[in-house]
Amino acid sequence: MKIEDIESLLIDCDASHRLDITMSHAAEKIGRDEYTAFKDFGNVRIKNGINICQVMSLFKEKKSTIIIHDLSDTWPALRQLVQNLSRELRCQAGTNVFITPGHSQCFQSHFDENDLFIIQLFGKKRWKIFESMITLPVEPQNNRPFDFSNLDLLHDFELEQGDILYMPRGFVHEVTTTDMVSAHITLGLGNITWGRIMNDYVLDVAFREELLRKAYFKDYGKEMSVREDILSAMKQKVISQLTMEKLEEFAKRYFSEGKEKKPVSKILLRETMGQSEKLVV
Ligand SMILES: [Fe+2]
Repeated sequence: MKIEDIESLLIDCDASHRLDITMSHAAEKIGRDEYTAFKDFGNVRIKNGINICQVMSLFKEKKSTIIIHDLSDTWPALRQLVQNLSRELRCQAGTNVFITPGHSQCFQSHFDENDLFIIQLFGKKRWKIFESMITLPVEPQNNRPFDFSNLDLLHDFELEQGDILYMPRGFVHEVTTTDMVSAHITLGLGNITWGRIMNDYVLDVAFREELLRKAYFKDYGKEMSVREDILSAMKQKVISQLTMEKLEEFAKRYFSEGKEKKPVSKILLRETMGQSEKLVV
């Protein structure tokens, strides 16, 4: 992909309306309303894609970054790359494209919950990489405040056109553009963690065991002995039945014959819905 491809995607109104675009600036929050197109129908206001003029205005005048999400859905070469990475690395890969004006910063210093490959398409970016804040995070930092001031700076360099950077999850980074526009692809590698496989296992048991489908907060106010009984039954039906073979079976459902599959919870939901349809018939 060249910078011209991104430009034509953004300029073509029909295409840009179909893109999932957000904007960001490290120094100030850019609300979605500032670049969303609306159509009014009486008292009802319906979102109608993005306002590309506003996007370009925020880009030029406020030095905001344009982030195009999941471009692999519409870009065959990127889709192939995502599929290959997902299969080879046994993860769920995804992509975002960042276009940042010169002398700007998209996000404040932060860490990510996914391992990343950064592919610099155009221009340069200065990367300052600090120590890891959390070992193997599984949730995005979002706006949670962390004190990064005591972390050691590990690397400080410029990423240039054609360079690729591997950034393990958890490492804090601060990224700024130089005097020119920068475009890069972020390839996020969503890890399928032990916790996620365990979660799938527990959800599977819940589809069969009524006990796990009960509302926690309805039982919360009951006597301790009642809750202890529930906990004891849960240990017997969930924990004591757990084997490594079962976990491996759940893990395999994500990838079958090299093709990525949907998470187990969605498969189970679909199967359960199928059963209810049969019952109705
Ligand atoms: Fe990041």
